[in-house]
Amino acid sequence: MSDLPASAPTLFTWEFASDPYPAYAWLREHAPVHRTTLPSGVEAWLVTRYADARQALADTRLSKNPLHHSDDAQGRSKVGIPGERSANLMTHLLNIDPPDHTRLRRLVSKAFTPRRVAEFAPRVQQLTDRLIDDFAARGTADLIHEFAFPLPIYAICDLLGVPAEDQDDFRDWAGMMIRHDLPGGKRTPRGGVARAVKRMRGYLAELIHRKREELGASEQDDDLISGLIRASDHGEHLTENEAAAMAFILLFAGFETTVNLIGNGAYALLREPAQRARFQDAVARDDQEWLSGAVEELLRFDGPVEIATWRFATEPITLGGQRIAAGDPVLVVLAAADRDPERFRRPDVLDLSRADNQHLGYGHGIHYCLGAPLARLEGRTALATLLRRLPDLRLAADPDDLRWRGGLIMRGLRTLPVEFTAR
Ligand code: HEM
Repeated sequence: MSDLPASAPTLFTWEFASDPYPAYAWLREHAPVHRTTLPSGVEAWLVTRYADARQALADTRLSKNPLHHSDDAQGRSKVGIPGERSANLMTHLLNIDPPDHTRLRRLVSKAFTPRRVAEFAPRVQQLTDRLIDDFAARGTADLIHEFAFPLPIYAICDLLGVPAEDQDDFRDWAGMMIRHDLPGGKRTPRGGVARAVKRMRGYLAELIHRKREELGASEQDDDLISGLIRASDHGEHLTENEAAAMAFILLFAGFETTVNLIGNGAYALLREPAQRARFQDAVARDDQEWLSGAVEELLRFDGPVEIATWRFATEPITLGGQRIAAGDPVLVVLAAADRDPERFRRPDVLDLSRADNQHLGYGHGIHYCLGAPLARLEGRTALATLLRRLPDLRLAADPDDLRWRGGLIMRGLRTLPVEFTAR
């Protein structure tokens, strides 16, 4: 159990990014719905208890639309993905409410089906093996840069239908995005994230346009972008602009999240020898069901999405006994809720066979993660293959020297140096 700070913790510092859990424990106990000033200067409420978090995620009085932010006069609100306004990408699922959300989610669900993800499994395995091949003979690697980072970006590009020769551009743009919020570390130049978003959007718009023309008479839709173009609901299709915003949010929401699932997950396994041994036994038995449960626990224990994306009160509401004014931003702290002792037994312990593990790592309610089946597939394949092929994998750094990226929404390691017997 982490030690509880004696007084109100300072949030969003280096120390906080390395281990936010003592601060979250303090907030849950003393100020479960807590008003704070974010590093951007925006004032927001943090919700840290499981019961309040679950309620907030499903509360229809909390809108996802940034136009409900009280600071939004002339569109100057400092919330959301940098560059999404100027790149005309505001109409994606994470910024809209029903009925628009219902219509777009239904359309995308017709193309991004569990079956499409299941059929993608051999490709994820192939990508995973290829990345490990690149460093297996060396005996050392940085698991973030050489493994956790490239795997999700190549996977989602493949799934969308981005041609192989263009995928390294996506790797570069994604790299710009992921580095933008490093506290004190190497930073993407000012405006770099917005520029990367704009380039990605321009590329996707062109690709969608080209694929729409190519689809023509052909009934073939073996990539997701073609599937999105073709999807229809009561005769309605996505417009090209909606399809571009959709492809963008799939990339954006599906990239850094999965990098951190693999990175945080590998780190937790390397630090907990008894749990890691059980994981390796399950890999040897090829017990996919147990491994799936184990990856859920890794997500609960140190999830990639620390805080769910923005919500705004459309009317005055009371949450956890706290009055919240109309227009106030509310941030649901998933990582705090998932360590709430009122909900989870021994929440600070990693228990890969934990039963009753209804964590909030993928959110809850109508915005529940659309990509969860893909994330689960990638997380399980990556971690199981890593420990199957490199069974004596170990950390090659002092945990205290490792640096964490402490963005507002995501939390993950910047580097994860490892060593193993070269093969
Ligand atoms: C939504 C987590 C991977 C696509 C969400 C939300 C969470 C989340 C917490 C809800 C946000 C909110 O309510 O504000 C995760 C985690 C992942 C992951 C932990 C990896 C471990 C993916 C992948 C994709 C994806 C791989 C797609 C390729 C989306 C989309 C939404 C979403 C499109 C918006 C859904 C909606 O608003 O209806 N995700 N995600 N995610 N996720 Fe994921």
